[in-house]
Order: sequence, then structure tokens, then C-alpha cells
Amino acid sequence: MEGRGEAELGSLLEAARGVYRKAFGGDPEIAVSAPGRVNLIGEHTDYNQGFVLPMALQMGTVMVGSPRQDGIISIVTTAEEAEEPKSVQFPVPVEGSALKPGKPHWANYVKGVIQHYRAGPLPGFNVVIASNVPLGGGLSSSASLEVATHTFLQQLCPDDGDPVAKALVCQKAEHTFAMMPCGIMDQFISVMGKEGHALLIDCRSLKTRLVPLSDPNLVVLITNSNIRHTLTGSEYPTRRRQCEEAAKILGKASLREASMTDLEASRSLLSMEVYRRARHVIGEIDRTAKAAEALQSKEYEKFGQLMVESHNSLRDDYEVSCLELDELVTAALEIPGVYGSRMTGGGFGGCTVTLLESTAAEKVLTHIKEKYSRKATFYFSKPSDGAKVHLLP
Ligand code: GLA
Repeated sequence: MEGRGEAELGSLLEAARGVYRKAFGGDPEIAVSAPGRVNLIGEHTDYNQGFVLPMALQMGTVMVGSPRQDGIISIVTTAEEAEEPKSVQFPVPVEGSALKPGKPHWANYVKGVIQHYRAGPLPGFNVVIASNVPLGGGLSSSASLEVATHTFLQQLCPDDGDPVAKALVCQKAEHTFAMMPCGIMDQFISVMGKEGHALLIDCRSLKTRLVPLSDPNLVVLITNSNIRHTLTGSEYPTRRRQCEEAAKILGKASLREASMTDLEASRSLLSMEVYRRARHVIGEIDRTAKAAEALQSKEYEKFGQLMVESHNSLRDDYEVSCLELDELVTAALEIPGVYGSRMTGGGFGGCTVTLLESTAAEKVLTHIKEKYSRKATFYFSKPSDGAKVHLLP
């Protein structure tokens, strides 16, 4: 079991400072962090203007750095899995010489945020990145890097501080520099997460509502299938297109506007596949609204039931689960004290999220280890704060 809390973020900061001293000499002046996230329910609903209910994790990405006077940006990553080279340098973009995505891939998230940052002119800077969010694990390692970058830039050259605009800049970076047509969930929660709370996000109005999740008898377990997901492949954009197609045929601006009755009435106009995709989304938006109410009123059984329905729908109708995720969910649900379990994030690998009574935790881990055909990694995380600035001693 890996517990990843504040203490680990602290040691991550320390490690990043050590690397900074070696790479650039002297101490960094600025330190920021931004969390990864786990989505409790509301999957593949954000780009359909629906509801999502994520929470920010204790795991995150830290950046430490200082401005420099020569207009050069120099970035070092400590991520072992990151593609070589582990450092890049380029001049601060000016009008007429925009940054472009390229290699190494990891630098694109940072470059994208720099390019789309709303205030300026930015100075040059040196920065070191360190993260303990597993890459490609469905816990938003990329959003946490984007939001950490944005938070860092805000220290160098403050903008108006608007959190919604911040999340949208980070999403734009992901669209245009990582070529991943993601929704807004990951960046929103990484900016706006609150300790002890999940965040209900209405992806149509962009309004958010905090939902308390701090019952000491309750545990959120994240189980990494250790199957790496790649969402920039064709599956994610294909799902998005299918949803848009369904909305168009139903005569709606988005699937958020459609009811199951609307869908059934137009069933013959949709291919079986597009029909099932839409059925997932419409059902999932409804489940997420109900789940937020259930969590608010501490009806955990009900919440768990909705999680299971969500998983089944993602598996059967949306077809974004995989055997390994199904195995993990089935194993978790076999243990008394488990309220619910489901795949979380984009799918095709990555993690499951399980809500359980804290007294059942040990049993669940043992059982999953026994039943899972591969090696799983476990994280317990409490709902945490969004991006932060850290005071350096
Ligand atoms: C990825 C995307 C999110 C969201 C989820 C699925 O994590 O980045 O915007 O669409 O998949 O719910």
C-alpha cells in the first residue's frame, strides 16, 4: 500500500529543490504544486456538458524555480518515465514566434500553458518539475502539470486570478499542444479542489459545488491496474464525435439537453453503437446528479450502487473499460464493507476507484491482490486542496 500525503508532497518539493541547485546553482525562489484527481462518478460526461464529481488527490506535481533576466526558459523534469531529453530550453515566446508542440512530449504541457497564458510579458525562468502522479494512470498527471505550470507563471507575472479562466487555459494547452481533445474536469478539479470535499462540476454552466467527503469511517481506495492508458489514440476522439453525432440527430445542443425519452424516440435514426454511447452519457449525467445528493446526505449504499451502474454502463455501452479494470471492480465488490467500485478516468487501463468502510480496507487489498491477474498498486487518498503556492524556508 502506498500512502501519499502532504508529507510526500513535502519530500517531492525537497527533491525538486535538490535537483534545482545542481542544475542551476542557488536556491529556487518559487515553489508551487497542483494535484492529480480521481473522478468518483460522471465519466465521459464533461465534454457533453454534463456533471462530474471528482476530488483532488494528495498526489501532485510540484514546480520550483526562479526568474532569469535573459529571456530564456529552461525546464528540467525529474520524471523517470519521461522521454529524453529531460531538459529543454527556449526563448520566451513573443508575438510572431509562437511556441509549437514537439519533442520531448512531456514539455508540451508546459509549453502549451506558457503559450496560452493570459498575462505578460513573461520573464525567462529556470524550473524543475517533480511529480508523484503515475503517468498514464488515469489520475490526471497531465492536468496537474498544466495547472502547476500556470500557478508558477502566476507567481512570475500575475494575471487576474480567475480560477475558471485558469482551468480553461490549461485545457486549451492540452488540446493544442498534447492533441488530446479532453473535457474540463481534470483542469477544474486540479485548480479548485478543496480538502475534505468532492467537487460537483456542472460542465454546461461551469458552476461548481463542494460536496463534503470527510467521514472518518469512509475510505477512497484507488487501485492502479498498471495497464497504461493512452487517450490520444483514436478512441477518445471517436467517442466525442459519436456523442456529437447523437446530439445532432436528437436536435440538441449537447447530450446534456437530451432525456432517455428523447433518445428512445429517435432510436431508429441512430446506429446501434451511437445509440449505446448516448445511452451511457444520458444515464451517467443523471447518475452523477443523484450521486452528489447521496454523498451530501451520507447515503453511501446508494452512492455505491450508482458507482457500480456507472462502471457497467462504461463497460457495456461506452466500451472504454478493459478486462483488467473489470477484474479489479469485481474483486472489490466481493468484500463486505465495499459500497461501490468503478473504473475512473478515460478508461482502457489506468485506475479503479472504490468507496468502502475504513474497517474493510485491509481485507479488500488482500482480496484484490489474490484475485487480480496482474500486479496492482494501491493508493488511499483524502480529498485535497487544488493548486497551491508553497513558502520556501
Ligand atoms: C479524460 C479527460 C476528461 C474526461 C475523462 C472521462 O480524463 O481528460 O476530460 O473526459 O477522460 O471522464
